[in-house]
Amino acid sequence: MPEINNIADKISKQLPLQLTAFLKQAGVTAAANGEGLYLVGGVVRNLLLGKSNLDIDLVVEGDAIAFSQKLADEAGCKITTHKRFNTANIDWYGWSIDITSARLESYSHPGALPDVKPGSIEDDLLRRDFTINAMAAGLSPQGFGRLIDLYSGQKDLESRLIRVLHDKSFIDDSTRIWRGLRYEQRLNFSIEAETLRLLKRDIDGLDGISGDRIRYELECILAEKQPEKVLQRAAELGLMVKLHPSLEGDGWLADMFTRARKLSSPKKPSISLYMALLTYNLEEGEKEQFISYLKLPGAIAQSLGDSSIIKSRMPKLASAGLKKSDVYHLLRGYNRDALKASLIAADSEAVHRSIQLYMDKLCNIKPQLTGNNLMDMGIPEGPQIKKMLNKLLDARLNGEAKTQKEEERLVKEFL
Ligand code: CTP
Repeated sequence: MPEINNIADKISKQLPLQLTAFLKQAGVTAAANGEGLYLVGGVVRNLLLGKSNLDIDLVVEGDAIAFSQKLADEAGCKITTHKRFNTANIDWYGWSIDITSARLESYSHPGALPDVKPGSIEDDLLRRDFTINAMAAGLSPQGFGRLIDLYSGQKDLESRLIRVLHDKSFIDDSTRIWRGLRYEQRLNFSIEAETLRLLKRDIDGLDGISGDRIRYELECILAEKQPEKVLQRAAELGLMVKLHPSLEGDGWLADMFTRARKLSSPKKPSISLYMALLTYNLEEGEKEQFISYLKLPGAIAQSLGDSSIIKSRMPKLASAGLKKSDVYHLLRGYNRDALKASLIAADSEAVHRSIQLYMDKLCNIKPQLTGNNLMDMGIPEGPQIKKMLNKLLDARLNGEAKTQKEEERLVKEFL
């Protein structure tokens, strides 16, 4: 295909009408200020690939916050600013538009956050991860849609290659290793040979990256349509051990993730469910290391911990002659994603049935009589009430009491 040097028609055709109008107006405002404004990164890549993209990144050759404020005032829309990073986000009818100042970055040492100075769009493209993400399109009225492709990103899109811009890219920012795998698997591209050599050379740079940043990368992977493809590729390249030495990205995991999608359909599985499956075969202590390294939030940590407890109960859940009330008490109170992960990973048919039964039915069962009703019937306030309520619950679970009348009969027998 011949190279394109203007994507104005793609912008108009592929982005919603209102959004295109907003971008045109933004270009006019920037030009009136004597500033260049550009669409950059993922949105340009996706427009060239014919995919829609509603997360819009803009770069202005000037002060991003002052410019965004002006734009928001003109358009009468909501703006959030981050002074520390000199960035702003505009909410335009539900579309999220990130605006940053064009900048020149340098790294004092590997893994450090970059030193940042104001720069041109060319400087800004040079600091980016891959050629396919290092293209920009002008938004000024004179050059609306003009493509800036200094590193042959278009050619790489055509050859389906993920390629870094220079040989220190992974040293400057090791998280690009995970990003590279994510794009490769999402787009069904290949990491270009020299880039792959650099990636392997620089893998140990990941040891210097904070757990928070790695967690963010892992969350991005788990938000992909088929995260298992990225994890399998990571295992192949010896990257899984960077998350935890005992983690694997194998066929078993792929199978579990596929089942998680079926179970969660039409929604996507939650990050917490994927995390519980990813770490399912780790020992308890190993899970704790993983949780503290990645600083996982409480609810996710809970789903990992609860999965271990449920796993340890599986022999009991598999035993013959289990009453429904036994199943209930073995599974009661655990995190929903931990239950789902256990349901997916259980290899015994009996365990699977018990967990399914608990999640579908048992967890919602309650006796109809309340503590007050029991006191009215003559049970004295105190531990007896709790004991009776538990008896009623078990009777309900096991089908021994189906109506309020039957519950009352059991209370009378007890009295
Ligand atoms: N970027 C980079 N290095 C990083 C992170 C981001 O160079 N470590 C640049 C890339 O140019 C990227 C842009 O910032 O295109 C925006 O980053 P992000 O929103 O993470 O990615 P998108 O390209 O928008 O891709 P996605 O489809 O995954 O959202």
